[in-house]
Amino acid sequence: MINTALKPYNKKVDVNNSFSVYYLDNKEVKSTFAEDVKKGLTAENKYLLPKYFYDNEGSLLFEKICETEEYYVTRTEASILKKYSIDIAKYNHNKHLLVELGSGSSVKTRYIIDALKENSRNLHYVPIDVSDIMISSSKQLVSKIKGLQISGIIAEYEEGIECVSHLFNEPKLIIFLGSSIGNFDLFHAEQFIRYISTKMNYGDSLLVGFDMVKDINVLNAAYNDKEGITAAFNLNLLNRINKELDGNFNLDNFEHLSFFNTEKKRIEMHLVSKTDQCVSINGIREVIKFKKREKIHTENSHKFTPEMIAEIAAYSNLHYSKYWTDEKNYFNLCLFTKM
Ligand code: AVI
Repeated sequence: MINTALKPYNKKVDVNNSFSVYYLDNKEVKSTFAEDVKKGLTAENKYLLPKYFYDNEGSLLFEKICETEEYYVTRTEASILKKYSIDIAKYNHNKHLLVELGSGSSVKTRYIIDALKENSRNLHYVPIDVSDIMISSSKQLVSKIKGLQISGIIAEYEEGIECVSHLFNEPKLIIFLGSSIGNFDLFHAEQFIRYISTKMNYGDSLLVGFDMVKDINVLNAAYNDKEGITAAFNLNLLNRINKELDGNFNLDNFEHLSFFNTEKKRIEMHLVSKTDQCVSINGIREVIKFKKREKIHTENSHKFTPEMIAEIAAYSNLHYSKYWTDEKNYFNLCLFTKM
């Protein structure tokens, strides 16, 4: 049931009878790419935010990473969903509303949608994503799945979930797949799940994909594929700065570095300067100096243990109901319920 009291910042566009898109006009001032690049590259320990990997080129490279032999993450999660979606749907038999955080192309979600549709003829799917790739994938989904209603929300996760809590009040299953939670630092991961929990009603569920701590060789290989696609994905950040902020990074002067930090239980990705060099970025009116071997930290990808997951659930006041895993226990899909 749709709550008609829309907040004024919501603009709804009906694409067709089964598919609408909400655009959120957020008045909050968000920092821009230029501001974040300036802040990161003028910091004592240089860094760039991983959310900027995903321009068109970066999104295509990420899709290619998912197809490499070494990057087991996407494939393993998809195999769990394929095998257990019916079971996941049984735990959520009363849910007719499926909300997805960071839906992207919604490929893996198809398993859950199909399973939930067995119980619910009128399934309502609400993908939340900053990227409008969601629009084309949603159009495809409604054309293929009879009776599926989609309300897409173009927004960041927090504002999207806030919008869901205003618009829809039926029992919901929220999903957050792909171990995207691993790209938050641990403090923010806990804060984020706790925030989602405050937007859940009693009986609502949250399904989160966690990539688990495992053999260090498997982890290191996954982020250093032999075809060099992860390296290209990492270096593309510099390309993006060249294109969008009129920079003159020479990509041959930087190399990809990624390794598992055992103590912090995370893969770290960096770009390493091969020489002493200066790079000018006109769009932010800066000349950035690099020493030989100096690093730009570009991403953390945390890996989890069962204890860490239980801790997140407890901190967020969620009941840890059940998890599904693969034969090697590489990846866990965990179901939390608001009680
Ligand atoms: C999107 N995210 C979960 C990926 C990860 O594994 O942390 C991003 C990625 N970075 C390098 N390879 C994949």
